[in-house]
Amino acid sequence: MSLEGTFTALLLLLVSGGSAVIVPSPTNLKVRCQNLRVTVSWKYSELQPQTVFSMNISGSYGKEFRITDHQYDLSDFIWESEAHYMGSYYVTVTAIQGGTRSQPVTSETFAFNSVKTTSIQCELYFPPVALIKKDSGAVISFRNPFHFYRELNLAKKKDSASFHFSVVVSNEEFDSECNLYQENCTHDISSPEDVKCVVLNGLLFDSINVGQVKFIPQKKEICITQSTDVYMVTLVILLSVVVVVLVVVTIIICKAKARTNLLEEEQDQEEQQEEKEEEHRPYFRDFDRLHFDRLHFGDVGNGDVGDGDVGDGDVGDGDVGDGDVGDGDMGEDYIPRTQFRI
Ligand SMILES: *[C@@H]1O[C@H](CO)[C@@H](O)[C@H](O)[C@H]1NC(C)=O
Ligand SMILES: *[C@@H]1O[C@H](CO)[C@@H](O)[C@H](O)[C@H]1NC(C)=O
Repeated sequence: MSLEGTFTALLLLLVSGGSAVIVPSPTNLKVRCQNLRVTVSWKYSELQPQTVFSMNISGSYGKEFRITDHQYDLSDFIWESEAHYMGSYYVTVTAIQGGTRSQPVTSETFAFNSVKTTSIQCELYFPPVALIKKDSGAVISFRNPFHFYRELNLAKKKDSASFHFSVVVSNEEFDSECNLYQENCTHDISSPEDVKCVVLNGLLFDSINVGQVKFIPQKKEICITQSTDVYMVTLVILLSVVVVVLVVVTIIICKAKARTNLLEEEQDQEEQQEEKEEEHRPYFRDFDRLHFDRLHFGDVGNGDVGDGDVGDGDVGDGDVGDGDVGDGDMGEDYIPRTQFRI
């Protein structure tokens, strides 16, 4: 492409005798509307760095923009006023190099106003919609688009502009509208009583009730978003969870306490027994104390107190040393006791 382009440019230069440079036109000119944002873009060979583009929007209203970029955001122009956003337009772009202009290229026609016949029909999205269950029926509610969209809010318009919407439920259609000043648009759906989902259509009218911009919901169907039923269910589930947690915690605490008491009793007994034994075997005492103290200090830090080595069936009764005891609960507070082994 670039080689071909260079060749063509060279050829044209030769043909024209070097007196006039032919400026190529932009290609791939496109208009896109995504909700309120309207953008125009085109392609141009990067070989000509000094190119400026003249972009004209024409139709109901017109304006010329001079830019070096290959795209332009027309949103500010479109949302300037009701007259502007109800208009229909097309865009022409011309490349300019020095004093020389290319042939202009023209885009497809476009409009937000669905009354105008254009190749591109721009539409807007409904603000987030809530369908709230009531005792009988439901209420549909959303922010008034004139408030929700900053561009629409700021656009110059007359007081009589309005937003119309229809709610379709079980093949029945209910029409409703809200004026410029209402913060929310709402509608009560009284039948059927067990309404679950609805379809929504909207039209934003101009102040003379002729021009209209089509609104589409973000989802095809709008379904019940919240109701007192849902709240009750949530509340019951939450309370159940809290109760279960409380019961479990209480059980754990009681068990731990019982164990600690048992342990203390057993250790008291052991101690008494040790004292007795010490009296009877004075010669072994120092040796054994030294040995056990060392053994204990090593174990205490790991929360392993009483685990296996200590008491090993000889002293006291088997239970003391069996894993459960000292199970971390005793922690650092535990003071190792001397025990005797023969
Ligand atoms: C663009 O607009 C300017 C000023 O309105 C005008 O002079 C010029 O001819 C227009 N160009 C095209 C290609 O429509
Ligand atoms: C509009 O709706 C919002 C939320 O949906 C609510 O917080 C607000 O109070 C409503 N405004 C009026 C005037 O009802």
